[in-house]
Amino acid sequence: MVDLIWNGKEQLEESIDYIQNNLTSFERVELNSKLKYDLIVNGKNKDWINKLFWGDNLQVALNLLPKFKGQIDLLYLDPPFFSGTNYEIQIYEGDKEFETLAYHDKWQGGLDVYLNTIYQQFYLFKKLLSPQGLIFVHVDWHANHYIRAILDDLFGINNFVNSIVWYYYNKYSAGKYNLPRAHDTIFVYSMSDEYAFNELRIPRKKPIKQLKRVMVNGTLKNAKDENGKLIYRIVNDKKMDDVWRIPCMQPASKQWTGYPTQKHHRLLERIIKIGTHKGDLVADFYCGSGTTLYAAEKLKRRWIGVDNSKYAIYLTRKRLLNYLHKKNVNNLYPFEIITDITEKRQEILQSGFFQKELIIKRKK
Ligand SMILES: C[S@@+](CC[C@H](N)C(=O)[O-])C[C@H]1O[C@@H](n2cnc3c(N)ncnc32)[C@H](O)[C@@H]1O
Repeated sequence: MVDLIWNGKEQLEESIDYIQNNLTSFERVELNSKLKYDLIVNGKNKDWINKLFWGDNLQVALNLLPKFKGQIDLLYLDPPFFSGTNYEIQIYEGDKEFETLAYHDKWQGGLDVYLNTIYQQFYLFKKLLSPQGLIFVHVDWHANHYIRAILDDLFGINNFVNSIVWYYYNKYSAGKYNLPRAHDTIFVYSMSDEYAFNELRIPRKKPIKQLKRVMVNGTLKNAKDENGKLIYRIVNDKKMDDVWRIPCMQPASKQWTGYPTQKHHRLLERIIKIGTHKGDLVADFYCGSGTTLYAAEKLKRRWIGVDNSKYAIYLTRKRLLNYLHKKNVNNLYPFEIITDITEKRQEILQSGFFQKELIIKRKK
């Protein structure tokens, strides 16, 4: 048996108890929006309100636990990758222009602190996942080897489902002494042997002629007609495998929000289609520009999103409202923004931040 150990791992329960004992309470933000639509978007179904949390995901998870233990059907987690980068953005507000930080991925204390943070977060998020639930964890080469070991530790090796390779063929990579890095990894784990898993099929470039196969006494055999001749069929699609060729978001895309590390909505649409059905609950505890929530909204799933960056919440809200109103979508569920109103957040809210017309771009 291999044990995974790092400095601080054994203090997990103690650290969580400390946060639990100092828990802040979260409440719905009421904005007097100057926009023609309000924050609480009307939905047909009044039994559920989608939730966008502005705050630290550990705090949010602890706040959710009493009501949502075992309730989430699918978790997509796209945490900081241990990249050592501060993700800066350029803001345009009327004739003002300034640079600021969207979020940071530099870890004082190095890998121990990063792994401890991730471990605590995932440990709590797991408690929210339903016994039939699936978790998709998106990482890259910086720390994927450690994260897989952490997931084995938390979910059990036997609950490993897939290691999906997202091949983003269109990303510029300047590496001179290595091969261009062109993929991320998405680890999939289940809570038990019984989980929702919908087969997805993708179109083939050209139709192919394929032998028809049938199951005979539990074994796959070639199908034959009454004269003993093999039966062929023309196939236009194929079962989707674990290598996904989907481009990176580019600033020219209509869906580009300006948020650094925004993932492609097609990636999230696939994930949600694989692991959930209409009305199921999807959660993303590092929602950034809200790609998961946007995809969940499109696919008529319920959702919970969390981020502690005000720019992430600003863009997510704007993206969802634009989708719901400009496209005149008949949305199933309303949505609300919830936060723990610290002094700093109070100031931001009072400054009318969410009502401002900001243009956000990648730093020049
Ligand atoms: C890789 S980005 C997610 C990008 C997102 N998938 C998208 O498509 O835009 C990671 C996000 O995690 C957020 N984050 C990091 N630590 C967090 C924490 N402790 N609580 C809440 N959000 C956090 C960051 O603010 C950042 O927006």
